[in-house]
Amino acid sequence: MNVNYPKMFIAVMAAMFFIHMPVRAAEAADDKAVALRLAMAKQMRIGVALPTQRDERWVRDAETMREFAKKNKIDLRMQISDNDAAKQMSQCENLLAQGIDILIIAPHDATSAAEIVDEAHKEGIKVISYDRLVLDTDVDLYISFDNFQVGVLQGKYLTNLAPKGNYIVLGGAPTDNNAKMFKGGAMSVIKPLADKGDIKIVMDQWVADWQPTVAMNLVQNALTANNNKIDGVLAPNDNTAGGVIQALAQAGLAGKVPVTGMDAEVTAAQRVVKGTQSMTVFKDTRLLAETALKAAIKMVNGQDPGATSKVNNNKMDVLSILLTPVVVDKNNLDAVLIDSGYLKKSDVYK
Ligand code: BGC
Repeated sequence: MNVNYPKMFIAVMAAMFFIHMPVRAAEAADDKAVALRLAMAKQMRIGVALPTQRDERWVRDAETMREFAKKNKIDLRMQISDNDAAKQMSQCENLLAQGIDILIIAPHDATSAAEIVDEAHKEGIKVISYDRLVLDTDVDLYISFDNFQVGVLQGKYLTNLAPKGNYIVLGGAPTDNNAKMFKGGAMSVIKPLADKGDIKIVMDQWVADWQPTVAMNLVQNALTANNNKIDGVLAPNDNTAGGVIQALAQAGLAGKVPVTGMDAEVTAAQRVVKGTQSMTVFKDTRLLAETALKAAIKMVNGQDPGATSKVNNNKMDVLSILLTPVVVDKNNLDAVLIDSGYLKKSDVYK
C-alpha cells in the first residue's frame, strides 16, 4: 500500500485540533466560572464559643485563633461564657443567627451543650467540639489532647515522688468531661498503689468550676483533718495547683509536698522553677487552636479534616484529632516551654 505520510500527518493534526477545540473552550469557561465564584465568595465566618478566660490557657487559645483568623482573612466571631451553661447556649444561638458557616465549641457543661449542637445541626451547621467533648449527641469532630494520657502523666509523676503515704486527690469541674478523663488516667496509676495499701487517699473531691479557692479550702480541710500529714496532692491543673500550694504554704509545707498541675501557665512555671509545684503538663494551645481552625476551613469547603482517632461521647464514636501532652518539670522547662516560644524567659525567671 502506498501511504502518503505527510498528508496523513496533516489530517491527524487537524483532527486533534478540532477534537481539542471544544475542550479548550470548556476549560476557559470553567476558569472564568471559578474566578467569578471566588470573587463572589463571602468571607468564611467561623463561630467560636469558649467557656472561660479564667485559666490563662483559654486566653491563649483565643489569642491564637484571632491571629490566625486575621492572617487568613476569616471572619471569626468569638463568644466567651464565663462558666455559665445558659449564657453559652444563648451566645451560640446568637452566633447561629449571625450566619456562621461552622461552630467550634469548648462546652462549659458537657451534657447540656448537646442542645447547642442539635440546634446547629437543625440549621445545617457542623460543630467541632474543642478541647472538651460535648456528650450525648452527634458531634462532627473532636479536637483535643489525649486527656487520659494527661492524667497518666500526672499520676506517674506523683507516685514516683511519693510512692507511699497520704494523698489528696482533686479532680477538675464535674461538668467538664476532660476532668473525668484526667482523673481516670491519674487513678489508673494511683489506684493500684492504694489497693495495695501503700497509698491512703484521705480526700477525693471534684473542684467546682476548676476554682483555685475551692481547691485551697479543700486542702486546708484535709491538712487539718490529718495533722498536716499529707504526702502528695493530685491537682488537676495549674490554677487549682496554685490554690493547693497556697494552702500548703499556710501550713509551712510548700515545696515539701509533691503537687501536680497542667497547662504550662506562667505562674505555674515560676512555681516549678521555685520548687513549690513539682510538674505541669504542656498542652500546646497554639497548635490546638490552629488545628481547629484549619479543620473548620476544610469542613466548610466539604473536605475531610483528617481525623486520626475516635472518642466515645455516650452517643457515638466521635471522629477525633488528639494532640500529644508533654510532662514538664524543672529539668526540661527551658527546652520545652521557653525554647518553643510558649513562655518568655523573662516572665518565668522573675
Ligand atoms: C482544660 C484545661 C483547663 C481546664 C479549666 C479543661 O477542660 O483541658 O486545660 O485547665 O479545663 O479551664
